[in-house]
Amino acid sequence: MEKVFSGIQPSGQLHLGNYLGAVKKWIELTEDHDCIYCIVDYHAVTQDYKPKKMQKRIFEMAASLMACGLDPDRCRIFVQSHVPEHTELAWILNTVTPMGELERQVQYKSKSESQSENINVGLFGYPVLQAADILLYRAQKVPVGEDQVQHLELAREIVRRLRNRFGYELPEPQPLLSDVKRLKGLDGDDKMSKSLGNTISVDADADTITKKIKGAKTDPQRKKRKDPGDPKVCNIFTMHRFFSTEKEQRWATEGCKSADIGCGDCKKKLTENIITHLEPIQATLGELRKDPDRVWSALAAGALTCRREAAANLDELREAMGLR
Ligand code: AMP
Ligand code: TRP
Repeated sequence: MEKVFSGIQPSGQLHLGNYLGAVKKWIELTEDHDCIYCIVDYHAVTQDYKPKKMQKRIFEMAASLMACGLDPDRCRIFVQSHVPEHTELAWILNTVTPMGELERQVQYKSKSESQSENINVGLFGYPVLQAADILLYRAQKVPVGEDQVQHLELAREIVRRLRNRFGYELPEPQPLLSDVKRLKGLDGDDKMSKSLGNTISVDADADTITKKIKGAKTDPQRKKRKDPGDPKVCNIFTMHRFFSTEKEQRWATEGCKSADIGCGDCKKKLTENIITHLEPIQATLGELRKDPDRVWSALAAGALTCRREAAANLDELREAMGLR
């Protein structure tokens, strides 16, 4: 079976961008791949955060993933810092990573702008730790959103450098993009992202979802009710593609193009469908919160088997580098 690896920051709650852009694919892949999914707390500490809240953020992320349908009996889910080999490998990879490649990373540039008071070495080396996450398990496929593609190019470059320098062979990991590569936020401009405050969380209640969708941007060209719109450029329609039936999608497409329906009608339908879709997820999340041991023991079991595999793989690389 092909090996799949992906990671997510413990940002507290999954939002629809994570869910449609990555996590739905993670779940599908567990059917016929050997999948490892990691909550990347060592990545998270490169940004400002409150230490007292970190464990809750990790718990909430793990519970949300499980509630969305990620089954720890069909894949491994674990916390990055529970497997110290990740940071050990990252150090090794630092020694074959050119500074110039890191300086070119778009995410580094945008994060150093948004946290100009805290441009730390960890933020700079973030993509190296990400490469270590993947290469530690020799993963071939990495389901992510579009924003992570550049980090994966770097991971492949690191693989080639390890091969040239030490004759050490690893697969070059490829990104697996889902149909929604980059879900826009409710502001209709940037990607949906917690730091931009333009998200809908999978945990949002019906009122919040209703209000947020009501205020969301649609096709910017459609200024008046009688103007026809273009579903292809409308973020609301992107979400209909996931939450609505084919018949409803046809209704939205035709109604929008002919101006038979207004954005309000289209949003109302989407709101109902999102609420219905999230209901069972939120119910499971509620049960997991009442039984936190189920979540922590799944994470512990994941870390145990990952650690075994990670240590064996790391030993081989150390051997190839003349380290014992
Ligand atoms: P993060 O929350 O940044 O750790 O992202 C976790 C995963 O969700 C990564 O694979 C991201 O590429 C993906 N992702 C995050 N935001 C979006 C978005 N707005 N659209 C599509 N994918 C996203
Ligand atoms: N950088 C990724 C993000 O912000 C998270 C991540 C860390 C990751 N390690 C990974 C994704 C390894 C895929 C594979 O979304």
